[in-house]
Amino acid sequence: MARTKTYSHLLSEGRIGPMTLANRVVLPAMDMNVCVDGEIEQEDVDHYVARAAGGTGLIITGASAVAYPIGATSTKEPGLSEDRFLPGLKALADAVHAAGSKLCVQSTHHGKVARVDILNDRPMLVPSRPDYSYDMSALADNTMDELMKMGAVTQGKSGSYHEATADDIAWLIETWTDAALRCQRAGVDAIEIHCAHGYVLGGFLNRADNRRTDEYGGSLENRARLACEVIASVKAAVGDTMAVIVRVAGAEYGQEGGLTNEESCQAAALFEKAGADAIHVTGWGRNPFSNFTDGPLPNKVAAYLDLATEVKKHVSVPVISVGRMLPEIAEKAIADGRIDFAAMGRQLLADPELVNKIAAGEPERVRPCINCYVCVQENFYDDTPLCAVNPVLANEKLLPLSPTRQSRHVLVVGAGPSGLETARLLTERGHRVTVVDKADRLGGTLWFSTLTTPDNERLLDWLTVEVERLGIDVRLDTEATPQLVQEIGPDHVVVATGAVRPRPDVPGGDLPHVHTGDTLRNLLLGSAEASDGSRLLRTIGKLGKLSGVTKSPEAIRKLTRTFLPMGKNVVVIGGSLVGLELAEWLAERGRSVTLVEAGKPLGLPMAMPRRWTAVRKAGELGVTLHREATVTRITSDSVEFTVGENTLSAPADMVVYAADTTAGAPLAEALATAGVPVEVVGDAATVGYIEGAIHSAWSFAATF
Ligand SMILES: Cc1cc2nc3c(=O)[nH]c(=O)nc-3n(C[C@H](O)[C@H](O)[C@H](O)COP(=O)(O)O)c2cc1C
Ligand code: SF4
Repeated sequence: MARTKTYSHLLSEGRIGPMTLANRVVLPAMDMNVCVDGEIEQEDVDHYVARAAGGTGLIITGASAVAYPIGATSTKEPGLSEDRFLPGLKALADAVHAAGSKLCVQSTHHGKVARVDILNDRPMLVPSRPDYSYDMSALADNTMDELMKMGAVTQGKSGSYHEATADDIAWLIETWTDAALRCQRAGVDAIEIHCAHGYVLGGFLNRADNRRTDEYGGSLENRARLACEVIASVKAAVGDTMAVIVRVAGAEYGQEGGLTNEESCQAAALFEKAGADAIHVTGWGRNPFSNFTDGPLPNKVAAYLDLATEVKKHVSVPVISVGRMLPEIAEKAIADGRIDFAAMGRQLLADPELVNKIAAGEPERVRPCINCYVCVQENFYDDTPLCAVNPVLANEKLLPLSPTRQSRHVLVVGAGPSGLETARLLTERGHRVTVVDKADRLGGTLWFSTLTTPDNERLLDWLTVEVERLGIDVRLDTEATPQLVQEIGPDHVVVATGAVRPRPDVPGGDLPHVHTGDTLRNLLLGSAEASDGSRLLRTIGKLGKLSGVTKSPEAIRKLTRTFLPMGKNVVVIGGSLVGLELAEWLAERGRSVTLVEAGKPLGLPMAMPRRWTAVRKAGELGVTLHREATVTRITSDSVEFTVGENTLSAPADMVVYAADTTAGAPLAEALATAGVPVEVVGDAATVGYIEGAIHSAWSFAATF
């Protein structure tokens, strides 16, 4: 691990217009949805201050509505249109300054996604009435509850449009300028003008949304005209008292007429000419239901860096790049002169202390974002983001962790994410912790999940580093029995043994080629013999034991891409998160996979945008998907099931049963009966995967 790595470029001072920043790390806009009728509350202040105190050079607020409530998407976003918003803005600016950072307000009119306009029966302001509709078939993978929560935001109304007239355009420029001046009066250091993500200025900029024939439509120069007029007017009003940053998509994805990188470069040059002090390059997947994971929240690391690099060739002002800009990538990109600043969104939700940690020479201590999309799912419900790995998000009062008043010896059974996080927190608070796990490695199911979801490996690495740093007594290859517990003699036991994965309760469910997650893992890791004679499992297991390859998820991922000696046909029963990811993983390795799910939605409880992408990708990889299917029988070479009136069968050399995963902690029951004080966390208490594991660890360990 890169313990001595320095980040001299990322940590060097930088300038944007009149503003000097302590370093090149920017918190990009992420709406927290905690305002009350547009007014900033203490929760918002606490959230931004945590990131400022963590060393972030520039804090950008979530999208704030210049004409609030007109053109707003939520009553929980900051408003900029009236003086009643001034106290909140000023309190935020003062607090961010006191924490050593600078504050930028992201300003926008949400155009065709202004949900408050829909609610208030106001038509939404657009360059042209949309002549397309989105493919929303992905919603088949939502539960009724999720659909109702999404629909409730606009009370089920669908909204109407109003094509901007010359008067509207003049009003918008004036309103935006007035909003900028209000930010200036509040002591804000910069304003970001949002020209992306389909909001009104972004809509004018691209050909798919702008079909106007006046001087605001047609050529790129015409389409950029409104944004340039807003920028010029704002700049003229604020002069050198504030920096003006412009956010633009380096490219738009998934629909004909979306902004191209070439157009984006031209637009950036026009924005500079109009007065922009910096260009912030984002990306936008035009249909949120099918390509949200292309943008604005990309799956790919450094997703827009190449686009930003191109933009930089066309401007002389600084360029900010966003989109999974990991610190080491950002450092190199700045050193190479490709960009000037790196915005790190979700990474700073996961760990607000990122800059302080890398400045202290401890980059390995940065709690990683695992790209799970749990945070942004809440935005679909107009709610406050949660973070799977950081329960402190939107609940900053959980910190600082208070030292325990009575140090106790706690035995944690299970070295999966809930066990390790519990051990970490308890140790930080002054308890003495012993961790035991019957496996030969840390991570439990988290380790296994890294095979299909490489981003999870970052979390496991981090937990491993923390456990080492804190000197926690970890005993692997150790099965926790009541006798062992008695021998160790702890004051308290925490059972974190994970979920229970039963075999399928259908004829043939006990055949040797039918695997549960547990048997599959044991075989892959070489800790059990393959009872079905499966060459794959035996070979990989043996190979792993001999070469140590199974210690490295990356090595297994690579090896199995070229070497997967198993039958061609696999049936995965259960299409939730685990089953879906496994089906994709096998399909990527050339297997013919059939996924059979009892319910309608697939991929639950994967967070929404990621789920939609995963289901689409499974289809693209050729996985045959059967929803609302009931498995009736497993034979030596097939799985039989019914869908409605139809009886179907899929060939199967191997069957993986990924359904009916339930909570269960028999050890805890036995210990409790014997009078040992015991707590159950993670999947053993309630199946909640990584988010549930980490959050349940905090619920117990932050106060024990
Ligand atoms: C919870 C959440 C809310 C967001 N809200 C906004 C927003 O208000 N305005 C905006 O321009 N982008 C918004 N974004 C996009 C981020 O600014 C950023 O561009 C995106 O997360 C990609 O960067 P990352 O990979 O570093 O997270 C939001 C992202 C998240 C995760
Ligand atoms: S919820 Fe997931 S994607 Fe969002 S910041 Fe946390 S770890 Fe990253």
